[in-house]
Amino acid sequence: MIDLQLADKKHDEERQGEALVVDAPLIRNGRKLYIESYGCQMNFADSEIVASILLDQGFETTGNYKEADVVFINTCSIRENAEQRVRNRLSQFGVEKRRNPKLIVGVLGCMAERLKSKFLEEEKLVDVVVGPDAYRELPALLSEVESGQKAINVLLSREETYADISPVRLSGNGITAFISIMRGCDNMCSFCVVPFTRGRERSRDPYSILAEANDLFKRGYKEVTLLGQNVDSYKWKGKDAIEEAETEVNFAQLLEKVAVISPDLRIRFSTSHPKDITDEVLYTIAKHDNICNYIHLPIQSGSSRILELMNRTYTREWYINRIDTIRQIIPGCAISSDIIAGFCTETEEEHQETLSMMDYVGYDFAFTFSYSERPGTLAARKLADDIPEEVKKRRLAEILLKQQQTSLYRLQQFVGKTMKILVEGTSKKSDQDFCGRNDQNAMVVFPLTAGVKAGEYVNVYIDRCTSATLLGTVVS
Ligand code: SAH
Ligand code: SF4
Ligand code: F3S
Repeated sequence: MIDLQLADKKHDEERQGEALVVDAPLIRNGRKLYIESYGCQMNFADSEIVASILLDQGFETTGNYKEADVVFINTCSIRENAEQRVRNRLSQFGVEKRRNPKLIVGVLGCMAERLKSKFLEEEKLVDVVVGPDAYRELPALLSEVESGQKAINVLLSREETYADISPVRLSGNGITAFISIMRGCDNMCSFCVVPFTRGRERSRDPYSILAEANDLFKRGYKEVTLLGQNVDSYKWKGKDAIEEAETEVNFAQLLEKVAVISPDLRIRFSTSHPKDITDEVLYTIAKHDNICNYIHLPIQSGSSRILELMNRTYTREWYINRIDTIRQIIPGCAISSDIIAGFCTETEEEHQETLSMMDYVGYDFAFTFSYSERPGTLAARKLADDIPEEVKKRRLAEILLKQQQTSLYRLQQFVGKTMKILVEGTSKKSDQDFCGRNDQNAMVVFPLTAGVKAGEYVNVYIDRCTSATLLGTVVS
């Protein structure tokens, strides 16, 4: 069995410091790999690709970096504090390296791509720096390091999707898994470092996506989340697998193809972009019961002027229209968001527009951030980061408070109802309780029940809630 320490599958753009451990490979080289991941789910999915590549080389994984021969840290650059966390962690690895000079320390992911060879200059303990499109080169790069050199490959690619590499499935519960359907991003949101760290957008071959989803389902998985920075711009052109005819697949069509694998396989996806989400996608969600009624549709700001400065290419009115259309086509659909407080030149009125937008939508959930200037981005080059830190903090606190109230209100609407839950396992807080999610992605906790196992769907009657969790009992 795969044993993995990937804790919560929370939809968090900035998960931090989770190590992955998998079973021993067939061929062993006697060496141990420790890999720790930060950032978005795509980065975590990449760590599974990296683990797969090194397992093929005979590595075993370990959850304890002190017994590792190779330590990889898969990094995130999205905000300054994400990078700071990585640097702090690296200094801990430095202590270990002084004790064991043979230890190889590698930096992977977005910070590797952003800082390139500067990393080798700045952090003397780092031996190898590898960008997100160069993981196939890892075995060669490790050989270089063993021959006494520092090694680096940060080339970005227009084609790499790792489609043929089957990720070692590290999902701790064996029930929910992530599938990357595309890489990179072609949008140029002015605050965002991702286009620089991940390169151009490219869509993965749909047949390899379907094969992966099918394989997961056969192995007992019951939920897949399709991942991309902007899933709505998924577009693949190529030869049809059966008839060899030229064909084109868009996101709605891909969703449908995954949905028909089995009605018992739940489909989620992230992230949707307000400018690109089509009615065809919404109708596809409405048509298939197993495509979850949940859309992560980040607004970033409720002010059209700020949205323009952010280069998000939609207005407040456009976003409202998308929300109204979602509500009309998929009644009861949960909607979540990402919101940035204190972007360059944001006035108090514009901040109020974000709050009023939150009232209008009534998000089920939101990830909220204070603007962090990222070197090299359009905003860093063209706009002054002129909102004082304490103003950003206060605006963020107001956004957070509103979201807490709205989240509670949304959860309260489920109380008194019975809903289908996919049991993911025992609750983190108590081994006497199960946890799982409803269709709308709300976490539900209920007492262990005879005859119920993880990986099954059960009907749960919700009798109460906290601001983050629904509580209930299984009903037949
Ligand atoms: N592709 C997704 C977002 C990926 S990054 C999308 O377009 O919605 C996740 C979130 O981090 C963003 O939605 C944004 O809210 C936040 N973020 C990105 N850059 C940031 C920055 N420089 N400062 C603060 N938050 C930022
Ligand atoms: Fe960044 Fe915008 Fe691309 Fe999202 S869509 S990853 S925010 S550039
Ligand atoms: Fe971070 Fe890179 Fe993801 S910057 S959010 S790990 S794409």
